[in-house]
Amino acid sequence: ALPDIELSRLEIIQTKQPKQTPNASNLVFGHTFTDHMLTIPWSANSGWGNPKIQPYGPISIEPSATVLHYAQELFEGLKAYRHPGGKVTLFRPDMNMKRMNTSAKRVALPTFDGDALVELMKRLIQIDKHWIPDQPGYSLYIRPTLIGTQPALGVAPPNQALLFVICSPVGPYYPEGFKPIALYGTTEYSRAAPGGTGAFKLGANYAPGVVAQKEAAQKGYAQNLWLHGPDHHITEVGTMNTFVVFKHENGVTELVTPPLDGMILPGITRDSTLALARDHASGKVILEGLPEPSKFVVNERPITIKEVKEAAQRGSLVEFFGTGTAAVISPVNKIGYLGEDIHIPTGPDGMGPVSRPIWKQLVGIQVGNIPSPWSVVV
Ligand code: COI
Repeated sequence: ALPDIELSRLEIIQTKQPKQTPNASNLVFGHTFTDHMLTIPWSANSGWGNPKIQPYGPISIEPSATVLHYAQELFEGLKAYRHPGGKVTLFRPDMNMKRMNTSAKRVALPTFDGDALVELMKRLIQIDKHWIPDQPGYSLYIRPTLIGTQPALGVAPPNQALLFVICSPVGPYYPEGFKPIALYGTTEYSRAAPGGTGAFKLGANYAPGVVAQKEAAQKGYAQNLWLHGPDHHITEVGTMNTFVVFKHENGVTELVTPPLDGMILPGITRDSTLALARDHASGKVILEGLPEPSKFVVNERPITIKEVKEAAQRGSLVEFFGTGTAAVISPVNKIGYLGEDIHIPTGPDGMGPVSRPIWKQLVGIQVGNIPSPWSVVV
């Protein structure tokens, strides 16, 4: 077998011109990058080459590189948190590695040993850890990326690729607390289709979403809600997964998210939200504030906008929120749908009775206040 990614072959070239770390309050999401990056070349003849940590800067590829023509690209997003004692942790990096390999297979890019990449990312983060802002709600957003670099215009699996990892210090998505957002229900475009690539974290899924987002903004909404098919199924919110909470006539509160049917991105915050909610529903770990386990159910099932609209009219719609690595939980207070607005309740803090306890637990784990196997020490 050809060589896989190997920590023992790591080369480190430290920057001679370290940059000034930014004032945390001026950070804009994903605009600032740390001093170093990790690169690992791959070729079909010799497998994965030497990993290198080197100064952050331009990479050189030929204009004929397949990534530039056929979008042979995939990426991941995860965060490293600095804890009060100085310890740094990653949140569920194994999940990102699993998804990265799944994405790679889908677009015929090379797969690799995810554990080895986690170890290399730890080295990179150790070197740049002073870039993690030292305030609550701040973290280092890690962006592993894989591109096809073969200089050839034939549409085929590339025989050369480059994996790189860059890091960006980021603040809380909502510096003034949770600001619920208004969504425009997009029916004129699709984000994903059966048998397509919606379940994979490919750059190619995101470029076509920019216009939908722009049009939502022009209509006065903060983000778009992807409504799929003739029945306008709820799929995703902008670049996030979607959750809806109903209170049924029998007094049971239901937390619902669309199933992983091939069109939904298997989000790590989605998975974590479901896991925490299910632990509560089964009585394993009680989250204060949630309805008692006998009155709380968690379902992955299809939801239509009609169901949401009717629940809002009946007063049985409790909440609607998005989940993602960048914003964690993003509450929604309004959905524009075919010329009408559906209003969604939100609490005084912007959140709702189900998202609030889940958010508290999730963030508690992420920042290290609540011990969990999901936190991986760097
Ligand atoms: C998310 O974390 O919600 C994302 O999908 C990140 C985004 C910048 C693509």
